[in-house]
Amino acid sequence: MKLSNFGNKFTQDAGINSLMVDLGEAMKDENSLMMGGGNPGYLPEVQQMFQRELQNLAGDDQAFRNLTGIYDPPQGDKAFREALAELLAAEYQWPIAADHIALTNGSQSAFFMLFNMFAGKFTDGSYKRVMLPMVPEYIGYADAGLAEDFFISRQPLIEMTGDHRFKYHVDFEQLNIDDSIGLLCVSRPTNPTGNVLTDEEMARLVAIAAEKDIPLVVDGAYGLPFPNLVFTDAQPVWDEHLILCLSLSKLGLPAVRTGIVIAAPEIITALSTINAILNLAPSSFGPVLACSAVRNRQILQLSEKVVKPFYQQKAQKAVEILDRELTGIPYALHEPEGAMFLWLWLRDCPAGSDLLYRRLKEIGVILVSGHYFFPGLPDDWEHARQCLRITYSQDDRDVEKGLLLLAKEIHAIYGC
Ligand SMILES: Cc1ncc(COP(=O)(O)O)c(C=O)c1O
Repeated sequence: MKLSNFGNKFTQDAGINSLMVDLGEAMKDENSLMMGGGNPGYLPEVQQMFQRELQNLAGDDQAFRNLTGIYDPPQGDKAFREALAELLAAEYQWPIAADHIALTNGSQSAFFMLFNMFAGKFTDGSYKRVMLPMVPEYIGYADAGLAEDFFISRQPLIEMTGDHRFKYHVDFEQLNIDDSIGLLCVSRPTNPTGNVLTDEEMARLVAIAAEKDIPLVVDGAYGLPFPNLVFTDAQPVWDEHLILCLSLSKLGLPAVRTGIVIAAPEIITALSTINAILNLAPSSFGPVLACSAVRNRQILQLSEKVVKPFYQQKAQKAVEILDRELTGIPYALHEPEGAMFLWLWLRDCPAGSDLLYRRLKEIGVILVSGHYFFPGLPDDWEHARQCLRITYSQDDRDVEKGLLLLAKEIHAIYGC
């Protein structure tokens, strides 16, 4: 098979692909302890709400036709976009209308389109890159550029917040954003670290985007206003320079593939045109299924009262287990401020995180080596090989079993 540059670039060993293959197999293997992916946990209340809605839709001829039998316009289901715009305007006083919103088949596909809209080659001969102001960042961005050398990123500042705790901060001194940057992107909360960028950091990033007149993508897949896996008192942010990407996945609908992009109408129109070429139309299923919950605000209530506490309790339990089991190890955990991950830093670790990943996989514990999460760093950084991402979203007993095996392996590696 002879492949084009495109074919070669997108079939080479992409981190996200090997991860998804590994994770997909592990999810189906009953003997694996799955602590690797971003799969949401099982929340009966959320599932029941969507089940009831699906039953209602299935029993109504017109509603069922909207759900399955009609291509939406490239911008996505209008009723959902109107309902969401109304929610955002009423709850946060954001000046948002339906034409500020486009739907995509998962937010993953939105990043691909947005990154390549604002970075790569320009007609004036210039070349721009996507800047990740702080890594570690989401692995799913790393292979999403059509061009090579697509990302540039910066190391964070590390604040030690306790004996075994730390928090990353954006190192604004090192950002140096010049004309070679076409777009900034952060996830908030951050996958893989569970960090939540502070309101002050967000304000400074928005100010930089405004000054440089480039968009700031804020990936709120775990964030505000839903699914609200945010355990600090961070505020949701909107500004005309911002592109806010949301998703229904972490609320409990990853298989439905619904991404939501909120941005200036000019950006939304351009994105929808690309969406039409790639997908014809985004799926109607998620927006039709979730529309009532957006209209009656149940999506916010469930996020606040059910989804957030579910993950926060799981985070606390996982932290307690690691603190108990890692006595004597020079470890540090990133402050668990949100999302569904613990980020474990094994300081002066005698083995790299990749080796630890493989040893754990052999005994059926699947988690993710930290080195994947540093795309675009100009220099090698030892810290990248000393970290692991641990997902705590699955069954409590399995998470505990997995953490005990992990701790045992870590003690064996440190020889203590
Ligand atoms: C930070 C982050 N953003 C975006 C996504 C993509 O989610 P989806 O394409 O399901 O909306 C994920 C998935 O795990 C994620 O972790």
